[in-house]
Amino acid sequence: MSDLAWWQRGVIYQVYPRSFQDENGDGVGDLAGITARLHYLRALGVDAIWISPVYPSPMVDFGYDVADYCAIAPVFGTLGDFDRLVVHAHELGLKVLLDFVPNHSSDKHPWFMDSRSSRDNPKRDWYLWRDPAPDGGPPNNWLSRMGGSAWEKDTVTGQYYYHAFLREQPDLNWRNADVRTAMDRVLRFWLDRGVDGFRVDVLWLLIKDALFRDNPPNPQFKAGEPDHHRQLQTYTEDQPEVHDIVRSMRATLDEYGERVLIGEIYLPVPQLVSYYGPNGDGTNMPFNFQLINAPWNATEIARIVSEYDHALPLHAWPNWVLGNHDNRRVASRIGPRQARVAAMLLLTLRGTPTLYYGDEIAMADGVIPPDRVQDPAELRQPGIGQGRDPERTPMQWDGSPNAGFSSGVPWLPISGGDGINVVHQDGKASSMLTFYRCLLALRRSERALVEGAMERVVSSGNVHTYERRLGGDRLFIALNMAGADAPVEAPEGTLLLSTTEGHEGKRIEGPSLLLAGDEGIVIRASKPT
Ligand code: GLC
Repeated sequence: MSDLAWWQRGVIYQVYPRSFQDENGDGVGDLAGITARLHYLRALGVDAIWISPVYPSPMVDFGYDVADYCAIAPVFGTLGDFDRLVVHAHELGLKVLLDFVPNHSSDKHPWFMDSRSSRDNPKRDWYLWRDPAPDGGPPNNWLSRMGGSAWEKDTVTGQYYYHAFLREQPDLNWRNADVRTAMDRVLRFWLDRGVDGFRVDVLWLLIKDALFRDNPPNPQFKAGEPDHHRQLQTYTEDQPEVHDIVRSMRATLDEYGERVLIGEIYLPVPQLVSYYGPNGDGTNMPFNFQLINAPWNATEIARIVSEYDHALPLHAWPNWVLGNHDNRRVASRIGPRQARVAAMLLLTLRGTPTLYYGDEIAMADGVIPPDRVQDPAELRQPGIGQGRDPERTPMQWDGSPNAGFSSGVPWLPISGGDGINVVHQDGKASSMLTFYRCLLALRRSERALVEGAMERVVSSGNVHTYERRLGGDRLFIALNMAGADAPVEAPEGTLLLSTTEGHEGKRIEGPSLLLAGDEGIVIRASKPT
């Protein structure tokens, strides 16, 4: 028997609450809506949901601008609704993770309103205030991830404050001990209400250079990239002191038993894995986003998979992510046929998978008419492809005009697509939903897929193969990452699952077979070697 934690065995499903299910007809999803759909998630076969922010917020960045860390925004419901969601989820055996946004608050948070009110307010040092440069301009050259200078001059006191994102999202000063204490209370507030863990927003950005030195220029910058790519983020991200903070967050979670701390961290693998902490006392999982950004071909993916596996410290548990609310949907990035191959990859790799809502029915990016754009990333830097509305369109439950999401006018248009909804795909052998259910069931029934070692990771032409081994069990996975048929060396055994329906249980003779274009297969080898 292994002693893996629930978050190591389980599969996480990200719910973007504005877009999952609207119960009160205002066009925006809510907590009662999520609760109503928990049975769907249980039947799908996931183990935990991570809910993007549901706190009171002016919604300039759709909840990632928090005005009160210990309450629920009326548009999403009440604390009572939240408690009911947690109770019901737990009854169904589902864990609930919240999104913790500690790097910045809303400019409407009482902490910031106090902080900006005068230079000697006790909360002044809770945020990053600096005098203007001698010419009256910003204190240094730091750039916002939403475009332009990261410094905003405040007329009340004549100083500038720092915001890594929008000016409505001032960064908190994590060098201040009172900020740390206040944020620790926030974690405890939700842990006491029964949450099972957190996804921590932009964890690698929490600490900035104490000397506020200018970032150096980025020699690789290409026109059309987001503004802040003009600079290397030498002094604004991944500062060594961040690890103390991570350790103390983790220590708080550990007081509550088996909880999970996941970090949103976009860094190259060598830096990324340092967020596990030198003694496994950092995040339980720093999100591994490589599959989102990688060129989609067998050589690249095989390289990423084996390099990551080798880079992991001994105590570290891997994880993989295919999509989220900040990136184009997988079905649009690589096409619906390869999206099935990607699903098989995600759910047969070693490590905890995180699914993004709607990917299980192959939802594609929505088309957002200019007058319906909501995302500030698009509104503030139009035309450079940073807009995130396309991947945030409402979940498609059925084929009705509002897709069963809302009886009102949905806050974003429905993406649509022929047969891309739960009702249509339910029970249909060839559907993406059925395929996801089969994959999730396979992962549940085959211990080797969860606990097994990752071996023989190779690519040959367009085919990526690997094995998952546990004791005498040997599962062989082959993924054809292109549209043309391709031969593959395969062991003798039984076909457990194929991206092309209807072959399960088939005997595989080996030593080679022909994979159809865009086909992926899982074989149980009859011999252990
Ligand atoms: C994270 C969130 C993103 C948000 C940003 C600022 O990257 O995932 O949606 O805009 O942080 O909070």
